[in-house]
Amino acid sequence: MSKKKILYEGKAKTILEGPTPDTVIQYFKDDATANNAEKHSIINGKGVLNNSISDFLMNRINEIGIPTHYIKKLNMREQLVRKVEIIPVEFVVRNIAAGSILKRLGLKEGRVFSRPLIEHYLKKDELGDPLINEDHIVNFEWATRDELDEMNEYGLRINDFLRGLFLGIGLKLIDFKIEFGRYYSDDGNSILLLADEISPDNCRLWDVSTNHKMDKDLFRQDIGGLKEAYQEVADRLGILPEKKKYSNAKTEIVK
Ligand SMILES: Nc1ncnc2c1ncn2[C@@H]1O[C@H](COP(=O)(O)OP(=O)(O)OP(=O)(O)O)[C@@H](O)[C@H]1O
Ligand SMILES: [Mg+2]
Repeated sequence: MSKKKILYEGKAKTILEGPTPDTVIQYFKDDATANNAEKHSIINGKGVLNNSISDFLMNRINEIGIPTHYIKKLNMREQLVRKVEIIPVEFVVRNIAAGSILKRLGLKEGRVFSRPLIEHYLKKDELGDPLINEDHIVNFEWATRDELDEMNEYGLRINDFLRGLFLGIGLKLIDFKIEFGRYYSDDGNSILLLADEISPDNCRLWDVSTNHKMDKDLFRQDIGGLKEAYQEVADRLGILPEKKKYSNAKTEIVK
């Protein structure tokens, strides 16, 4: 890890001081946690894979005109991002029933929703990140009504885009969690940026033909094979460096 000052020690990432005051570095660790960190393991290489997957997805999301905190990948485990004031709300977009909603509403895993469902959770580990509604968000001033509308809309656009992107590589996007932050310009005005990461740690992905899980549920549910699944996701996205080198070499031989 760089010899930079640690600003925040998270469960899966460490936030380090960036080269300029308006940037920070996200360092991806190999720690896997579930159930509000009751369950914890180290999975060698997970951080490297998530750094690459999130680098790829954040760049694609930037390209479709959704503003993100993402600047660039610095090395195997670190990426440079714009420093934001994180909005203390986790946005979960669901396409198919899985995870906590099953027990809460008595749903069967795999039920397809007629339209994407947005849920909001308060980012507060001490309270176990409780489900909240839009009235709570506006009333307690976690975000303004306009900010909330904008984040909900970004969430749905990201969902449409990622759903298609993953379907193209044989994966169903079941649901995902995103975070947003306020980025302040010199004049004191703020804009909303998509922050944090997008990786199989915070998306549910099932193989289209087998329905095999290829995300953090492999750890949450003690199924195993998490690293291999994340590697497969990276491979299907075409971002495994070893793979690229191999196919280049092959092309040269054919020529
Ligand atoms: N651009 C950014 N600027 C500042 N903080 C950020 C930025 N992007 C993400 N963060 C915050 O950095 C932390 C990333 O670490 P990690 O994901 O490991 O946290 P965590 O243990 O999951 O805790 P949390 O419950 O707060 O997400 C999160 O708290 C996230 O909200
Ligand atoms: Mg987190």
